Amino acid sequence: MLKIKNLISGYGSVQILNGANMKVDNQSIVALLGGNGTGKSTILKACSGIIRTWKGSINFNGEDIQNLPPHNIVEKGLVQVTQGKDVFPAMTVLENLRLGGFTLKSKQTLNDNIEKVFNYFPRLNERKSQLAATLSGGELQMLCIGRGLMSNPKMIMLDEPSAALAPQIVLDIFKNINKIRKDGLTVLVVEQNVRMALLLADYGYVIKDGVINVEGESKKLMYDESVKDSYLGGGGTTANV
Ligand SMILES: Nc1ncnc2c1ncn2[C@@H]1O[C@H](COP(=O)(O)OP(=O)(O)OP(=O)(O)O)[C@@H](O)[C@H]1O
Ligand SMILES: [Mg+2]
Repeated sequence: MLKIKNLISGYGSVQILNGANMKVDNQSIVALLGGNGTGKSTILKACSGIIRTWKGSINFNGEDIQNLPPHNIVEKGLVQVTQGKDVFPAMTVLENLRLGGFTLKSKQTLNDNIEKVFNYFPRLNERKSQLAATLSGGELQMLCIGRGLMSNPKMIMLDEPSAALAPQIVLDIFKNINKIRKDGLTVLVVEQNVRMALLLADYGYVIKDGVINVEGESKKLMYDESVKDSYLGGGGTTANV
């Protein structure tokens, strides 16, 4: 579904991605792991067209999508969810969800999709008239994912869905990510929470210095010493692995 080959990109004249390679199969959940500042979010931004690809290719569903405008990439079915940054705080939950469906042509589909989101996250239904600014951290994350689902994507890319959330909420959100995959979507999840991410995902990649240097089935990566080393930059504690 998504194939990234020799991806080179960065900001201004600073190169961050130094030839990253990865792929995400249809209807799989793939985890992208790595320490702070290693280029995880940069990969997602290149895939969603927010930053330019300098070299290499990004193929989605058989089409090269690198350097297409972001709204074209959304229309093709690839959506990025960035924690807290995708919603308008002064608008209600419902208004934010409607905005997420901006590419939809029919009102019926819009309403059906809102129902679908409420099915995943009943809490959002209870809070539908509340301003996004007043939501709790967990509810806000649910709204960000819900908003991403509104445009009927084929694949969603989630940037640290568990960040700063209580374990019970993380569990609830991860259960829903699994449900979303079972309903036919493909998921790429960037996570700091390595153990949880590998429990959720089928396959994992570890990025270091803008290059993917370890990959494998989640079950194998879970016990791989090099994952701990890469993730923690060698040494350090293993407390969160
Ligand atoms: N808009 C930007 N302008 C300049 N440099 C940037 C910009 N965004 C990110 N960077 C730099 O690119 C590098 C990779 O950042 P990126 O956000 O991809 O890291 P990350 O792996 O997602 O880290 P984290 O786990 O902390 O979110 C970092 O050194 C960061 O400072
Ligand atoms: Mg990041």
